Amino acid sequence: MNKGLFITFEGPDGSGKTTVSTAVTQRLEAEGYQVRYTREPGGSNIAEEIRHIILDPKNTDMDARTEALLYAASRRQHLSDKVLPALENGIHVISDRFVDSSLAYQGCGRQIGIDEVYNINQFAIEGHMPDKTIFLQIDAETGLKRIQKGRAVLDRLDQESIEFHQRVHQGYEEILKKYADRMIIVDATKDVDEVIEQAYTIVKGLLDACESA
Ligand code: TMP
Repeated sequence: MNKGLFITFEGPDGSGKTTVSTAVTQRLEAEGYQVRYTREPGGSNIAEEIRHIILDPKNTDMDARTEALLYAASRRQHLSDKVLPALENGIHVISDRFVDSSLAYQGCGRQIGIDEVYNINQFAIEGHMPDKTIFLQIDAETGLKRIQKGRAVLDRLDQESIEFHQRVHQGYEEILKKYADRMIIVDATKDVDEVIEQAYTIVKGLLDACESA
């Protein structure tokens, strides 16, 4: 039996990742593909509890390195509870965010440095990187406007300054260059149905290639 494919969706806040990745998963499931949908931070019971601590707007005085370690801890639990067992059983995994989010948000947004954040995450992921990443590209201002319009409650990260979100954006630009072979860029400023269609076609192609290998 082939191992499943590990596909992640990445992008700044307001890029539409959750809408697009859930729609793509539902279509693939309806067509009979064995796909498990998940998200970070969270995705399994203990990891969701850590998510709650990280995103609670009350925790304004959380230290940047504590934040990075909590994301990594949540990721470890999620990986061992949900991602690795599925992949081992030949089930494809689609995750809304993974380690690239920590590189962009904690590495650049919080200015800890991409390499430092990568190193602490290695302890958590033991080399398990995604096979492919769909990157939904949108500028920081447009992304932020979308979430301010669309969300009833803003979490602790959503409430960060535009400068923070601009640094996250620059971080993603660096990650796109660093992992160019893994990254597939989709223009997220287009109409959502068009973005879903494009992402669906890409992911279906990847799963078909994996299953026929
Ligand atoms: P979400 O809005 O995609 O559910 O993610 C919650 C917030 O957490 C979002 O602002 C991005 C942020 N985040 C990080 O800062 N580092 C990470 O490693 C992950 C997975 C998310």
